[in-house]
Amino acid sequence: MIIAVDGPAGAGKSTISKLVAKKLGIQYLDTGAMYRAVTLYFLENNVDFSNIDEVEKNLDKIHIDFLNNIPFLNNIDVSKQIREKNVNDNVSAVSALAIVREKMVDLQRKMSNNKSVILDGRDIGTVVFPNANYKFFLVASVDLRAQRRYKEELEKGNKSANIDDIKKSIENRDYIDSTRTVTPLKKADDAIQIDTSYMNIEEVVESIISYIK
Ligand code: CDP
Repeated sequence: MIIAVDGPAGAGKSTISKLVAKKLGIQYLDTGAMYRAVTLYFLENNVDFSNIDEVEKNLDKIHIDFLNNIPFLNNIDVSKQIREKNVNDNVSAVSALAIVREKMVDLQRKMSNNKSVILDGRDIGTVVFPNANYKFFLVASVDLRAQRRYKEELEKGNKSANIDDIKKSIENRDYIDSTRTVTPLKKADDAIQIDTSYMNIEEVVESIISYIK
């Protein structure tokens, strides 16, 4: 069984997908973490991502996998680094590259092969698994999404977090993700849209579970 969960930043995809996975006893795959890991590698190795030859050569040096939902980049736990500002600021540009997407989509299909998995991302229901058994598209107002991310930053102890900067960064990523030429962020025609603006986490989880037979 494949469950696809797509939507913009801060709509609650990863929190909710993890909980649904636990309740159903299936695996969770965070595809955003994979694009983030590629971005981190490019930044750490000064890869010029406007140079496609350079990108292609370096993609071959990248190995991504997960152990208990922890992302590993070339065997190193990168769960913290991939959430940092430099990655946030560059991940949408890296994700817009066709060659990067090709490699990630291929890997996502391999990782999910013959398994029951809930995947969250931007193109799961449209491209990675157009025949997924269930498709959800989570949305919420940009102000509420920014508030959620701001709260997360404060909980992480980031005292310099600024809600206006977070909102700008989300709007910027939403814009690049939805307007890129290669497989932009888009609701699949047959996806169930859930507006999570005024729902708590449990309510969204219950709503999703109620559709699964
Ligand atoms: O958690 P958040 O929504 O902030 O982002 P994420 O799911 O970790 O994804 C980070 C970025 O990766 C997105 O802004 C997209 O640019 C890209 N992405 C993508 O293009 N396709 C996916 N399937 C998942 C993420």
